Amino acid sequence: MSNINTNQERKFYLKTMGCQMNEHDSEVIIGILTGLGYNQTENLEEADLILYNTCSVRDNPERKVYGHIGGFKALKDKNPDLIIGICGCMPQQPEERANIIEKLPHVDLIFGTHNIHRLPELLERALNGERVVEVWEDSQEIIEDLPVIRKSSLKAYVNVIYGCNNFCSYCIVPYTRGREKSRQPQDVVAEISKLAEVGYKEVTLLGQNVNTYGADLGIGTDFADLLKMVNDISGIERIRFTTSHPKDMKESLIEAIATLPKVCEHLHLPVQAGSDRILKLMNRRYTSAYYLDLVAKIREAVPNISLTTDLIVGFPGETDEDFEDTLALVEKAGFSSAFTFIYSPRTGTPAAKMKDQVPEEVKKERIYRLIELQNDISFKWMQAQVGKTEEILVDEIMPKTQELSGRTRTNKQVLFEGSPELVGQLVKVKITEAKTWSLRGVLI
Ligand code: SAH
Ligand code: SF4
Ligand code: F3S
Repeated sequence: MSNINTNQERKFYLKTMGCQMNEHDSEVIIGILTGLGYNQTENLEEADLILYNTCSVRDNPERKVYGHIGGFKALKDKNPDLIIGICGCMPQQPEERANIIEKLPHVDLIFGTHNIHRLPELLERALNGERVVEVWEDSQEIIEDLPVIRKSSLKAYVNVIYGCNNFCSYCIVPYTRGREKSRQPQDVVAEISKLAEVGYKEVTLLGQNVNTYGADLGIGTDFADLLKMVNDISGIERIRFTTSHPKDMKESLIEAIATLPKVCEHLHLPVQAGSDRILKLMNRRYTSAYYLDLVAKIREAVPNISLTTDLIVGFPGETDEDFEDTLALVEKAGFSSAFTFIYSPRTGTPAAKMKDQVPEEVKKERIYRLIELQNDISFKWMQAQVGKTEEILVDEIMPKTQELSGRTRTNKQVLFEGSPELVGQLVKVKITEAKTWSLRGVLI
């Protein structure tokens, strides 16, 4: 790295948008940049490298990127050596990439989701004055053993499957992340074993659809088998995973959640909509009856499970009646919380070309109604926790109140009084009070 002067401290500013996948990719980027002698800064003014790890799932975060980076022109005028980079999901779309190249001429470095490991070379070329654009459409192999510097020393994200084969008609992810590719189980186990050795207590296994883990490997290992292997790693106390596509939710996985002691009682099971007509147009490949039946099966096997979901309102052609079906499903499913989204047309996806796009005011009105209903259900769910004794993994001390904050196995935040040494430990807390988003309790 001839052009990276290690005598002088170099600093990078990294902004991460989007899902846990991107958050973890950023941990790899931090690992790589640290290896090159860079330190992270939160101060844009002192950065030698500004990098945006972008998300394309909705219009809003994309617009933000143009807004923010457009404004960095002044920083570049002040410091001509400043490198500005954009990576992640936005550059993966050819049209968006062309737009970045044209609209943001002061961006020096553009790469995608499949070639993060190439960052050292790409950065060196940018430092040599080249405008670097390198994006791979997909990747054939998984690169193991990249450096990673994780945000937490207690809880770790671990990729198990990359990409997505589902092509839900509204979604850009299959275009930005390529086809499904599972990591070898022994690579996953080796990574988590190392994490356990250095004190990590919790892992979240990541994939756009973890439920199809292993299908592409052809070695007969499925996601339930992988959970069993991870459950056997000593030192790891809690296992979480996300996301599960309802159509691929096998009996073996439900059984694994029910029986493996470290697998937490939380399942994120995005339903997206309650109308069968809309689900079909979305290419979700299940009906609301199938989904509710699945929920019933899961609750029977794991009675205290917390179910969370994603919901989209205003998909093209969604009528008032279709939307009422979503409200009805939400009532029946009893989610402990939900992420609700306004449908955002994504160029290149089938839904963006569908007729009858729903007007913005109608979408807004619907999302308010949906949020109101779900908030009510969430609050009731939280209230039902009062009086229970829960196992809490203590994460941190709240800066203002000095209270301890941790999470239940069902992934709800609990605040309580306790000694700072408890951070990183599993403790028992009796829940005494519920709010919509958090619980309060006393240590026992
Ligand atoms: N692989 C995961 C996450 C996909 S993105 C899954 O399948 O659940 C996270 C959520 O964003 C999706 O579940 C969906 O609810 C929402 N989403 C995706 N595309 C969208 C779009 N075009 N407009 C609005 N919300 C969208
Ligand atoms: Fe998108 Fe559907 Fe794949 Fe999830 S399963 S990433 S919503 S295409
Ligand atoms: Fe966004 Fe890419 Fe994740 S589009 S949601 S960052 S996979």
